Amino acid sequence: MKILMVCLGNICRSPMAEGIMREKIKKYKLSAEVDSAGFEAFHTDDAPDSRAIKIMKKHGIDISAQRSRLFRKTDFELFDRIFVMDSGNYNDVKSMAQKPGQMGKVDYILNVLYPGSNKAVPDPYYGGDDGFAKVYHLLDAATEQIANQLKNEEN
Ligand code: 4NP
Repeated sequence: MKILMVCLGNICRSPMAEGIMREKIKKYKLSAEVDSAGFEAFHTDDAPDSRAIKIMKKHGIDISAQRSRLFRKTDFELFDRIFVMDSGNYNDVKSMAQKPGQMGKVDYILNVLYPGSNKAVPDPYYGGDDGFAKVYHLLDAATEQIANQLKNEEN
């Protein structure tokens, strides 16, 4: 199972989602892979935001080596599930889809907790450390649920 986490800058939310998911893949010995991508070229090749690195480190996860990249059309073929953080990301991904059915593997990440609600993981970029703490907890809960689903699918 190949999972792609998507946000706007690929320096805050989706790198955190990638880091937490990778930790759970290890913890539960799942045969899955995870990557992340964004739509804001300004941050391409950048490390995650220092505030994202800091909150993740507090929870024992090092994401400092991850680098921002843009979402590519080939990601629809390379990944089995694509999780977006908000409606802007959803529409950005949709604008890249070229074949019917490609959007079938795309969903809001919080829909794993609140099916069909299309709730957003709020963008913490312009806020303070508390925003990053909130994002951590939302993504920890969502990725735990994804890990549980994968465990059941693999057994
Ligand atoms: P992210 O946060 O989408 O969670 O990585 C953002 C980072 C940078 C920008 C926007 C959102 N930006 O406009 O530069």
